[in-house]
Amino acid sequence: MVRFLSEKVQQSSRPLRILELGPGTGTLTKAILRVIRPQDSLDLVEINPHFCRMLRREFRHPNMQVHYADLLEFNPEEKFDYIFSSIPYESIPEEVSKGMWEQKLKLCKPGGLISYYKYVNFNHFRCKFEKELVETCSIDRSFVIRNFPPAQLFTLRIGKEPEAAPAPVKLARKKNSKPRFMLTA
Ligand SMILES: C[S@@+](CC[C@H](N)C(=O)[O-])C[C@H]1O[C@@H](n2cnc3c(N)ncnc32)[C@H](O)[C@@H]1O
Repeated sequence: MVRFLSEKVQQSSRPLRILELGPGTGTLTKAILRVIRPQDSLDLVEINPHFCRMLRREFRHPNMQVHYADLLEFNPEEKFDYIFSSIPYESIPEEVSKGMWEQKLKLCKPGGLISYYKYVNFNHFRCKFEKELVETCSIDRSFVIRNFPPAQLFTLRIGKEPEAAPAPVKLARKKNSKPRFMLTA
């Protein structure tokens, strides 16, 4: 589940913002913390106060924050590069599930990734909105047969990362020269 995060971390020279929704007892959190660097940040949003206390007690990272909140009400100042979700969509009414997906899209930076899994009803989507997103944005679908029960993992890329602006062209004087000017990038 953290394969794409691991690649993103290796390729990125800037700190990454990572969000995990519904971390529960922290099985996935542990794997994320093995991959990220001290300069990256990890925000955990969990609705169960008992799990929140446990996560704060068990896990350490200089930029980790546990939010005792409903993901539908989570309203951070900045968006995220990578979102993991363990929310069990198949057991949630379609309208609520759609609201959660809309919220996740709002929280994700353009070009950011969302990874999630489901245990039952492989390739069946109770929520039409989720199905359409998977059809248009998925970059990977895989099965974990060794898991019990077996799980299906999805990774989606949300939109496109804005292209880096070209370096500004500025006028500069050549060293030890008469004041003639040249273009530099
Ligand atoms: C399937 S469990 C996560 C399992 C987790 N990977 C583990 O190893 O324990 C789903 C989690 O999502 C949390 N959750 C459900 N609805 C939520 C919501 N609206 N906002 C935040 N967390 C939520 C539950 O409290 C639960 O801990």
